[in-house]
Amino acid sequence: MESRVLFSSQFNFPVNSPLKNRETSIAPFTPPRNVLSLSFRSPADRFAVRIGPLGKAVSFAPKIVAEVDDGSRDEPRRKKLAVFVSGGGSNFRKIHEGCSDGSVNGDVVLLVTNKKDCGGAEYARSNGIPVLVFPKAKRESSDGLSPSELVDVLRKYGVEFVLLAGYLKLIPVELVQAFPKRILNIHPALLPAFGGKGLYGIRVHKAVLESGARYSGPTIHFVDEEYDTGRILAQSAVRVIANDTPEELAKRVLHEEHKLYVEVVAAICEERIKWREDGVPLIQSKENPDEYY
Ligand code: GRF
Repeated sequence: MESRVLFSSQFNFPVNSPLKNRETSIAPFTPPRNVLSLSFRSPADRFAVRIGPLGKAVSFAPKIVAEVDDGSRDEPRRKKLAVFVSGGGSNFRKIHEGCSDGSVNGDVVLLVTNKKDCGGAEYARSNGIPVLVFPKAKRESSDGLSPSELVDVLRKYGVEFVLLAGYLKLIPVELVQAFPKRILNIHPALLPAFGGKGLYGIRVHKAVLESGARYSGPTIHFVDEEYDTGRILAQSAVRVIANDTPEELAKRVLHEEHKLYVEVVAAICEERIKWREDGVPLIQSKENPDEYY
């Protein structure tokens, strides 16, 4: 949002004020422009400011800068993404394509893999994306980063979000702690069912078919210190057909994964993830900002 400072002579943040740059929400401000309410989302700063006719303060506490949405929009800065893969990397490719065709307001700045010759790593190299190997392979001590080196390199590249896309190693606690609420994973079934250690790849689809479940589909979730237990952010349902094979089901789920992951990454890059009070993350609809899903 392009905002301009209103009544700056009356309302100024002290240069080092903790309120400076704080996210604010501005109540609808429609002509006649005589009342503006500002509220600060941080509980510590819960107060409101009203500005009366001619910019006179009706009531306010600390000095603040009042910003008004003048209708113009600034594109949010493009986000820097790191993608982690262990295999073919079809989700990675779709995300990368989304970055190139404008559907994702971000860029993949690093590809991390435990298999340096996998399809995903080759695709990255051929698209000029640096490839890092993590973790250090046991026998090839010269290759691969330690967890703290990995965190350092991600920081050096300014990575803001880490996207796991078929990465089969457990994410080290150092990384989870360095990127809170900033690591996503895609799982090819509807969590919390059919997840956990050992449930990956075709095994997931076999388990779904054996269970008799009538629906499967991808889940995108935030990553915590365990396998597949972080907060669910998005899901998409895929019908299980009576005579499905695991391979057929996997193919239909993968098709949905590609769409869902690109949509979710687009939402992340547009800062449309909102955390409900109980800790559930929601996606704000782009078309209708009052709707969350
Ligand atoms: C996907 O099915 C994903 O859900 C799972 O690993 C697979 C990766 O596929 N985590 P690809 O490498 O993106 O093609």
